[in-house]
Amino acid sequence: MKEKIAEYIKDIQATSIEKFQDKAAEVEQFRIKYLGKKGLISDLFEQFKTIPNEQKKEMGQALNQLKVAAQNKIEEFKNFVEESQELNNYSDLTMPAEFAQLGSRHVLSVVMNEICDIFARIGFTVAESVEIEDDWHLFSALNFPPDHPARDMQDTFFVEKEEGRQEVALRTHTSSVQVRVMEHSKPPIRIIAPGRVFRNEAISARAHCIFHQVEALYVDKKVSFSDLKQTLLYFAKEMFGEQTQIRLRPSYFPFTEPSAEMDISCNICGGKGCNICKGTGWLEILGCGMVDPNVLQACGIDPNEYSGFALGMGVERMAMLKYQIRDLRLYFENDLRFLKQFESII
Ligand code: DAH
Repeated sequence: MKEKIAEYIKDIQATSIEKFQDKAAEVEQFRIKYLGKKGLISDLFEQFKTIPNEQKKEMGQALNQLKVAAQNKIEEFKNFVEESQELNNYSDLTMPAEFAQLGSRHVLSVVMNEICDIFARIGFTVAESVEIEDDWHLFSALNFPPDHPARDMQDTFFVEKEEGRQEVALRTHTSSVQVRVMEHSKPPIRIIAPGRVFRNEAISARAHCIFHQVEALYVDKKVSFSDLKQTLLYFAKEMFGEQTQIRLRPSYFPFTEPSAEMDISCNICGGKGCNICKGTGWLEILGCGMVDPNVLQACGIDPNEYSGFALGMGVERMAMLKYQIRDLRLYFENDLRFLKQFESII
């Protein structure tokens, strides 16, 4: 047994990986030969059981030496195989680097950032708030009458709507941010509030239950309708080009008085009439008006001292008009063929 152990150790030490053809496979064969379940070393351990007790100490030590020698050799072989594989991977240093796939911003984020930037240039700061809102901030403080259809389950996703309890809903518009800001700050207030809104609508090319809005609010002493008009004209020209014209049509929103809707001259046909503007030469883009004195009052701002204007727009619609996107559903499907078309805009 002693001679066998010495012979194996000698063999192991003499084995060189250089001679292996298929290195990884032969290293494995080598391992099985010595350390496998039916390998040479376990064979010796079997025999070890039968030797006289007085020889056990010496043999045991020798056997362990053999085992360690085999393990060390295998470790050395494995390192060698690994290193040579790594070297192989880099053997052609002229190879082009692997192409790194870069993501890009979603077109809605791009447009939302652009709107915020345009308003930031005239002193508006970004305000953000919660997406789950209570009745006060969504409707009551904004002067919605108790029987307004927006308070109906058919239009709004309610989280809690129980008799005698505070109603809680997913916000249906970013106008709620106006209330949150006015409650907590003193005029002058100049904020822009981008965010996600939710409405109980069936999903189609023209409607979605989740979409985005940007709201703007300006409250100070002597803010007038002409301030609003000038801000709107500035915004339209920055967003859609210097040649853009605007027109205001009277409208109604509970929280503004007077209220208006703003159209821009069609940026596709330049106002001549096309199928995008349905032959009218104008595109409707946002709602606006002077903040209703009831709203200022509800938010703790004295309407006799201060006045303000507010406006709100849909981001999906802005992006549709700017990039001629025909179907709202495209924004949320994450189809790379769609998303990649906006890679070059930041
Ligand atoms: N909140 C309105 C909506 O969701 C949009 C809006 C209209 C916001 C007029 C305003 C405004 O601030 O003055 O349809």
